[in-house]
Amino acid sequence: MDIKVFFHKPTFTLTYIAYDQETKDAVVIDPVIDYNANSASYSYEATKEVVEFLQNESLNLHYIIETHAHADHISGAPYVKEKFPQAKTMIHENIKSVQEVFKGVLNIGSLKTDGSQFDHLTKDNELIEAGSLKIKTIATPGHTPACACFLINDEALFSGDAIFMPDYGTGRCDFPKGSATDLYNSVMNKLYMLPDHLKYYTGHDYQPGGRELMYQSTIGASKANNVRLTAETTEAEFVAAREKRDAELDVPKLLLPSIQLNINAGLFPEPEDNGTMYLKLPFTKA
Ligand SMILES: [Fe+2]
Repeated sequence: MDIKVFFHKPTFTLTYIAYDQETKDAVVIDPVIDYNANSASYSYEATKEVVEFLQNESLNLHYIIETHAHADHISGAPYVKEKFPQAKTMIHENIKSVQEVFKGVLNIGSLKTDGSQFDHLTKDNELIEAGSLKIKTIATPGHTPACACFLINDEALFSGDAIFMPDYGTGRCDFPKGSATDLYNSVMNKLYMLPDHLKYYTGHDYQPGGRELMYQSTIGASKANNVRLTAETTEAEFVAAREKRDAELDVPKLLLPSIQLNINAGLFPEPEDNGTMYLKLPFTKA
């Protein structure tokens, strides 16, 4: 299996294409569109790169996988799907509970909360065949309830925002229905039970201290050196440190536009009668 990596510097997001050179079978993980928050305008530079690679390599795209409903960038899944209509969008079935929460927060009466915006809702331990690629879903709630990691061909784990590079730690757990206890259990009882030599690929790399981009480590390295959660960390230690750190973090800059689009599988709202689309912005006292 080969892995093509794309780094979206404005949001520090990694997008991956996992593919088989011989059979041409492929999946995309976490594609991104560009969004300018100042002008509330979008463009497809980052997504086009992904599509062009798929086209140039004549890949047969089976799935467009979301590791979760992202709160920091807008999904490029609809754009990729437009170019590869046979590809199925996929996310963990707990997206339904994320939809339920944000339907309330954003007061979007029309939002369906049955996950039907996605082509496939995956479950923990589900095995999915994408041609010659064998995908196993590993539900890893904590950062959000709908987070999942995807193990492909027993060779590569796409870890989303569960674990990052060992020098950065784990995803935050302070979003609605996030839980540091859940993340601890997801990592300790699921990811850290995988073989030490298994390579994992992170959903983000924030380049701590300005270091060069890194996006791949091993389960063994995270168990030994993850700054927030090694194999020796107790649940109480992790939860206390995670919650303390999360209390210091700002709300992600693109939270409101990202989450309202991503819970709708990245699909845009209908244009209003003047032909323009609008996003919602709760306006509250600080
Ligand atoms: Fe995230």
